[in-house]
Parts: sequence; C-alpha cells; structure tokens
Amino acid sequence: MYLLIPAAGSGRRMGSNRNKLLLNLLGQSIIGWTIKAATESNRIDWIGIISQPDDWQDFENILGELNLDKPVKLIKGGSTRQESVYNGLGALPSQAEQVLIHDGARCLATPSLFDSCTETLGRTSGLIAAVPVKDTIKVVNDNNIIQSTPDRRQLWAAQTPQGFDVKLLKQCHQEAVSKGWEVTDDAALFEKCGLEVLIVPGEESNLKITTPQDLAIAEFILKNRK
Ligand code: C5P
Repeated sequence: MYLLIPAAGSGRRMGSNRNKLLLNLLGQSIIGWTIKAATESNRIDWIGIISQPDDWQDFENILGELNLDKPVKLIKGGSTRQESVYNGLGALPSQAEQVLIHDGARCLATPSLFDSCTETLGRTSGLIAAVPVKDTIKVVNDNNIIQSTPDRRQLWAAQTPQGFDVKLLKQCHQEAVSKGWEVTDDAALFEKCGLEVLIVPGEESNLKITTPQDLAIAEFILKNRK
C-alpha cells in the first residue's frame, strides 16, 4: 500500500516557531513516531512525506536514524493541508491505484490500524478511521447561539488514516481546485463529489497533536504502552 503523510504544517497552535512535528516526544520527534508506526505495518510498502523544503534536512536526519527498509520520498508541501495532499497525489508512482493518507500529527496510530485500513480498502474506494463522539455536539451561528443539536448516535470523529482509490481522489481534488472548495480532510472531498466513504473503527488514543496539552497526553499514552 502507498502511504502519504501530510507533514507540512506549522507549530502555530502549539506555540512553536517551527514545524510542531519536529518537536521531541520521549526522545523521538513526533513525525518519527508516526513514520515508525506506519513502517511497522507490513502492509505499507512506500511512503511519501509531504513537508516544507526548509524542514527537509531535519526529516532526512530523522529518516536516517530510523534506518527504514521501505522507499521514502520527500514531497514539497502546500500552504494548506488540502494543497499538500494534492501535491502528494501528484508525486505518487504511476502504478499506485490506492493510497492511504495519514496526518503526521497523529503519531499514536498503531501499526494494526494501518493494517485494518489497508485490508478494508480492498473492498471500498473510500474510507476513514473514526470513533463515535463522546460529547454532545452543538451547531452554532456566528454569535455562538445554538442552532441545533445533532443526534449523537450519528456522529463520528474523523481521524486518519483515510484511504482512497487514487484516480477518484485526484478527480475530487481537481474538482475542488476548479470550484474553490476548501476542506479539512480528503473524505470531505469524496463526499462533495457524491462518492461513498466507509468508516473503519479508529482508535481512542489516535489523537492529533495540536496543543502542548496533546503532547503531554501523548507522552502518557506512549509511556503506558511500553
Ligand atoms: O494543522 P493540523 O494539525 O490540523 O494539520 C493536519 C496535518 O496536515 C498535519 O500533519 C500537518 O503537518 C499537515 N499539514 C500539511 N500542510 C499544510 C498544513 C498542514 O501537510 N499546509
């Protein structure tokens, strides 16, 4: 399976002036943990890491330390996640028919989650890992006045990996460019194009590292995994 890892964001919400994925988490960079988990899944054969050229030397150093036995390609990131994934799709080897996309910031995903997503992608052309939401979710207007309360039983929190038929996802991204759609994940593009996306059970611990508090929680989870 081909895997793209969007890793070209900034550290703004982390309060960091560098790419948050280069921050240290128990002796290893955040992106290092992510790559390690992906490569420990023997279903993943090729990895494209999408990142800003300014960070490439750091990424090369991390890859050198991990000493991987799978091909890894560094791909230039865009100014949004959507743009970064679009660049990644363009850099896939021509024989790639399916692809998993996994955020570099989700460094706690386990190798078995990559396995289950890969297996399921044999039966569908679009999937995402997700977990049922635990909170009651409110939809509000610009003045923070609640407009509705969706039935929680129908709400799932989207994670990554997300997996797709490459040809279809490329078409969706091209349509997004021509229509000016802006989305925060690839499943949303599939949905907008009227294509089906199946949910695969995700992992409660598969959080996206966004704030310093997430980093502390990730440390706790990893320590308890050892
Ligand atoms: O900012 P956020 O954590 O939601 O980003 C999700 C993922 O997308 C992160 O792994 C981040 O590195 C990546 N990203 C990207 N290119 C951007 C912005 C974010 O690859 N321009």
